[in-house]
Amino acid sequence: MRIDIITVLPELLQSPFEASILKRAIEANLVEVHFHNLRDYTTDNYKSVDDYQFGGGAGMVMLIEPIDKCITGLQAERNYDEIIYMTPDGERLNQSIANQVSLKENIIILCGHYKGVDQRVRDKFITREISIGDYVLSGGELGAAVLCDAVIRLIPGVLGNETSALTDSFQDNLLAPPIYTRPREYDGMKVPEVLFSGNFGAIEQWREEQAYKRTKERRPDLLE
Ligand code: ADE
Repeated sequence: MRIDIITVLPELLQSPFEASILKRAIEANLVEVHFHNLRDYTTDNYKSVDDYQFGGGAGMVMLIEPIDKCITGLQAERNYDEIIYMTPDGERLNQSIANQVSLKENIIILCGHYKGVDQRVRDKFITREISIGDYVLSGGELGAAVLCDAVIRLIPGVLGNETSALTDSFQDNLLAPPIYTRPREYDGMKVPEVLFSGNFGAIEQWREEQAYKRTKERRPDLLE
């Protein structure tokens, strides 16, 4: 998979890709991530990426021209399956969207800033608009990092144990069950006996019951 991220603040985005699972995925060539600084696609001396809104109103709007240059340049090199715009008015990111995006070959992620991009950018290029939640961030970069993390860990081979993404919360619309490790007893708190039974059928059944119970208590909306 190849991900091209278009941003005015590449420095805000780099560190999540320089540690742990994302770093290993890149080093193993399971994913390529490229950052494009929108200012490199400007034509004026001020390297402007935004301007006042037509019609008046607070907040700047990102110009179509540098974005067009950047996206068109990328499209001349390869086909893109999806051009995603990070915006609070997009569809809310969930596991199902992450699963869908993880199956794509080449994607572009455009990070919004200020009030957002000129509507014509959305009309001309964007195939999917994604929000990471009902709150407004200063820009799309942190949202793009969240989306990339959720997507990249689903690419086959990225997680050591192939099954571990399948047992995450939200796969199957259930939250994950409780998990335990050493010691067997801590401060009088014991690990449930069934986990030592060696009976994998019973353990699986216990996990399913716990996952259902937790989902019912915390996120009944997932069961509807
Ligand atoms: N940009 C600003 N707020 C955002 C959000 N909630 N999700 C994605 N991109 C954003």
